[in-house]
Amino acid sequence: MDEMQKLQQTALEEISQAATTADLNDLRVRYLGKKGSVQALMKNMKSLPAAEKPAYGQKVNGLKQELQTAMDARKEMLEKAELDRRIAGEKIDVTLPGRQPAAGSLHPLTLVQQELEDLFVGLGYQVIEGPEVVEDLYCFERANIPRDHPARDMQDSLYIDPEHLLRTHTTALQMKVLEEEAPRDIKVICPGKVYRRDDDDATHSHQFTQMEGLVIGEHISLADLKGTLEFLARKMFGQDREIRFRPSYFPFTEPSVEVDVTCHVCGGKGCPTCKHTGWIEILGAGEVHPHVLEMAGYDPAKAQGFAFGVGIERVAMLKYGIDDIRHFYTNDKRFASMFGRFE
Ligand code: PHE
Repeated sequence: MDEMQKLQQTALEEISQAATTADLNDLRVRYLGKKGSVQALMKNMKSLPAAEKPAYGQKVNGLKQELQTAMDARKEMLEKAELDRRIAGEKIDVTLPGRQPAAGSLHPLTLVQQELEDLFVGLGYQVIEGPEVVEDLYCFERANIPRDHPARDMQDSLYIDPEHLLRTHTTALQMKVLEEEAPRDIKVICPGKVYRRDDDDATHSHQFTQMEGLVIGEHISLADLKGTLEFLARKMFGQDREIRFRPSYFPFTEPSVEVDVTCHVCGGKGCPTCKHTGWIEILGAGEVHPHVLEMAGYDPAKAQGFAFGVGIERVAMLKYGIDDIRHFYTNDKRFASMFGRFE
């Protein structure tokens, strides 16, 4: 076996046994580097007779190629083995259940408020919001409730100072809108929180949510109010609901009505929910009082309109069958999760 064959054999053996790519690099330097063994063989060519040089040169080049190819193949193999090892170590069990982030859901009062807003926006109303601390002037005086009037007793109040209080009804915003818009036509709803000094129980809360509706224009009558509220009742409680007006009293409307809707549980036949009357009261309403219009800057001979005030809790309680108003405010997750996703 000549020198070249020996070199070939040991080199190929060493390459096939290289355990790491670093070992392989050492071999590359040792055999194929500038001062490596193959280069040394090349140098021997000088001492050969001219006739033998081409054949010798070819053989050395062939050897160089062979070693190069063997090294590349070994390198690829080592790298693949290394990758396989890493992948095996990083195994993820995709069948394990994931961790769900706790996603909240909209509060039922928000849901009902949004539903009411959608409905009225669809009828061409504008949604208006206002401050919760209001002047006595707008909460009462402009609503036809002077300081010494017994009607103030209907809404026991939380005063900040003698002139300012937490609004007891969204009618306070209605009065402001009337003043700002006179003598123009109006079509607005005003949702928001209201406050009354009250002892909390299953149906009363010192803080609750109302939505005021106000429409002013020429010849806006109780008939328009009835059509509007019928639409509301059917959208909120079902297509076959009927409504009825009962005479009532509010200082800021004349005439005033209490509005009932046929019971959504029994359909009007009578059941415990409607106290066997077939009807459920949902809101107060009426034609805006001429004196209220006058105080705001309207000529009651030219502009009339209706107003209504609906309790959002009341609608939500009827719609979802909630039996205690306090559920809305106690932040019990079990309650909240009944109206949407809540992990
Ligand atoms: N503001 C009245 C209340 O809180 C409701 C109402 C509003 C009645 C508008 C008539 C017109 O009881």
